[in-house]
Amino acid sequence: MRRFCLGLSILFILVHHAAAQVPAPSSADIEHRVDALLAKMTIEEKVDLLGGINGFFIRAMPKLGLPALRMADGPIGVRNFGPATAMAGGIGLAATWNPALAERVGVEIGRDARAKGVHFLLGPGVNIYRAPMNGRNFEYFGEDPYLTSRITVGYIKGIQSQGVAATVKHFMGNNSEFGRNSTDSIIDERSMREIYLPAFEASVKEAHVGSVMDSYNLTNGAYLTQNGYLNIDVLKKEWGFDGIVMSDWGATHDSIGAANGGLDLEMPSPVFMNRANLLPAIEQGKVSVATVDDKVRRILRTAVRFGWLDRDQVDFSVSRYNQQGRETALQTARESVVLLKNEQNLLPLTKGAIKTIAVIGPSAYPAVAVGGGSARVQPFAAISLLEGIGAHLGSATKVYYARGLSTTAEMANATVFSTAATNGQTGLKVEVFGNGDLSGTPDTTRIDRVLNAGGGGPGGGGPGGPPSAGTLGTRGAAGPPPTSTRWTGYYTPQAQGPHTIFVESAGLEYGGYRLLIDDKSVIDNWVVWKEMLSHVTLTLSVGPHKVVLEQFRNPRGFGGFGGPRVRLGIVAKDSLIEPAAKALAAKADVVVVAAGYDAEIETEGGDRAFQLPPGQDELIQEMVAANKKTIVVLNSGGGVDMNAWIDRIPALVEGWYPGQEGGIAIAEILFGAVNPSGRLPVTFERRIDDNPVKDSYYPETGTRRIVYKEGVFVGYRGYEKNATKPLFPFGFGLSYTTFKYSGLTIVPVAASDRYQVTFSVTNTGKRSGTDVAQLYIGERHSKVPRPIKELAGSARVTLAAGATKKVTISIDSRALSYYDVGSKQWRADPGDFDVLVGRASDQIELRGVLKLIEARMSAR
Ligand code: BGC
Repeated sequence: MRRFCLGLSILFILVHHAAAQVPAPSSADIEHRVDALLAKMTIEEKVDLLGGINGFFIRAMPKLGLPALRMADGPIGVRNFGPATAMAGGIGLAATWNPALAERVGVEIGRDARAKGVHFLLGPGVNIYRAPMNGRNFEYFGEDPYLTSRITVGYIKGIQSQGVAATVKHFMGNNSEFGRNSTDSIIDERSMREIYLPAFEASVKEAHVGSVMDSYNLTNGAYLTQNGYLNIDVLKKEWGFDGIVMSDWGATHDSIGAANGGLDLEMPSPVFMNRANLLPAIEQGKVSVATVDDKVRRILRTAVRFGWLDRDQVDFSVSRYNQQGRETALQTARESVVLLKNEQNLLPLTKGAIKTIAVIGPSAYPAVAVGGGSARVQPFAAISLLEGIGAHLGSATKVYYARGLSTTAEMANATVFSTAATNGQTGLKVEVFGNGDLSGTPDTTRIDRVLNAGGGGPGGGGPGGPPSAGTLGTRGAAGPPPTSTRWTGYYTPQAQGPHTIFVESAGLEYGGYRLLIDDKSVIDNWVVWKEMLSHVTLTLSVGPHKVVLEQFRNPRGFGGFGGPRVRLGIVAKDSLIEPAAKALAAKADVVVVAAGYDAEIETEGGDRAFQLPPGQDELIQEMVAANKKTIVVLNSGGGVDMNAWIDRIPALVEGWYPGQEGGIAIAEILFGAVNPSGRLPVTFERRIDDNPVKDSYYPETGTRRIVYKEGVFVGYRGYEKNATKPLFPFGFGLSYTTFKYSGLTIVPVAASDRYQVTFSVTNTGKRSGTDVAQLYIGERHSKVPRPIKELAGSARVTLAAGATKKVTISIDSRALSYYDVGSKQWRADPGDFDVLVGRASDQIELRGVLKLIEARMSAR
């Protein structure tokens, strides 16, 4: 215990020391200086400042002493301008439930940014998790606004303590990736206030964030880059945000709309907010000089506030190869991993007792450290699970390895098609049309041996580089006309039986695809491009089967990270798994299967399926059939369909995207050197139909409107309302020890709106460990429909075996309130509130009641 406290105080000193590096000028001084700079500028120069340059910069204005201001993607590390520390993904950081650690992560990312001379770090990403399919869930902080806000505030404070502006994104309603440039999120006011806005609000009010990024989508009918209600009324006026509102890359659609709708900076270049558009608009009184001045002030204010006019942003006291960052990445990975299942205490494994271990699966090697897209930071080196386990065990234990499964590219390459049912040529007929609906005669026709095109390597200019014009340059803008393609071929199985059939089709944005087997639609992503990689299992009879894949693509959209790619593969189910993997599994003392997604299929620019990629369910089934001691380790940004194997395997570990040191951390957990302490920041559903957004995740038929019908009942709030038992509840995570709670008291704090909730946590097991005690509040008889309970606090408590610690969590009126749409205030009505303490949302151990005598209203 003493060691823990000492650790904390050292951490505090570190952070404190770091924060002390940048003395904050007073706001009067800042405004004075900003006024003086503004007075020196012509209207043309002011307008010039409102659009980015060279992909990731605000242009320099030498006469003001303003250097070019450099931006780099976060949130997992500093992606641009070369390699950098790759931390655990956002969802993993949230799974630590540790805001102090989030601050440390922020400090290290901030230090990496300073080593690269970066002024703006484009993170954190704080969009709420509604469903597991969102391709960017891995960057974000989960389904709960309270937990998300706590992690967000820590992270931003850490970054900004280094003289780097954080950019909280994507404001707002960007909770899915399919068609993200054109979907319109319809969210009622109360749900916005209670679920989707709090992390942004906390960024502004508590962390004084430097910048906010407007998202690609529309919310309630208006593109965010011209959404005056959200940008001006809520963000700037109500919350008092005094920094920069920048667009996501290519998310701007109108010059006057953006100028008057609260956008301050158009990125990556001024396609709309430029001299040609704005000078006449100013002349005609459509945009006021005061509006332009306000934008320029925000840019200058941020530059002055962070000291960018007074020092070089490159800090030579920071190493580019950041050892402190590596330590933090390792610690974050350790705390992020969630142990979900551990029958008969199979884990931890005993190092000396295991002579042979088989590490099998697509995620075993190379490391799957981060998901894909603009968050795909390239570490100097990343340690895979295979290497982590090998290094942990040393040479006394034999570590076997097999991938176990071909890649989708290999499967597509090995699929033999013929152009006709009989006597055809090898391959598929390809017809390319100069329109989006396969109409008329094709422009070109050819025969391709297989369908395995595009892909390979991260796109968008690749990690570290500025995005290529070919992808980013066309985002959202009008481009060449759409095209469509039809591939037709015949597939003849070697024998009758179940076959896995998949299509991988990435980089469509405004596009879709469908697959027909024997003229029947088996995969339909035509109207809504739901997922980049889809697969089905069909029993095919002997004889030729007609296979038709149709795809359309409208290049006005963003080409996707990695560029367009399309693959089609058919594999007999009984030949999916490499025989060598089965042999190794049968021979080894223990098997670790590393399964899940990777940066190609869980990525920005498209969604993923709820199912694991083709063949992985079978891989897990085969491994556990060969060896009962099979532990599954998953890489995912959220819930996964586990029905094919969850009841057969004894142990399951959720590794998320654990960052560059993930292999070490997971090995330490498997062998008990570290006791797992991660807790789910999302609910894992058993079936996707159990998810409260099952009818509201995709647009309403025939529209682009995603109506958030579930209202505030997202995640556990919805499962509890619908009385649906999830597979693993929000807040859940096992430990190698056990904890007990006792002695709940609720005491009002005199002369305040606060209450202190106190209880004790005891480690009742035989090892030391860290618990995450969770406090939930629920109003018993509410006037408006409210969740049964909502997270209001949590505490990470590290305890030696047998030790007890008293925990106090302080809550205020906001923890009791709902957003009252009528009065536009937070309102707590008099009555009884349940005060619940537990280890997960559905494992409550202590119950108390808080009686509120008088209503409480507040604007915050
Ligand atoms: C992403 C942003 C990112 C930007 C710059 C966009 O595609 O949505 O999160 O910061 O690109 O790379």
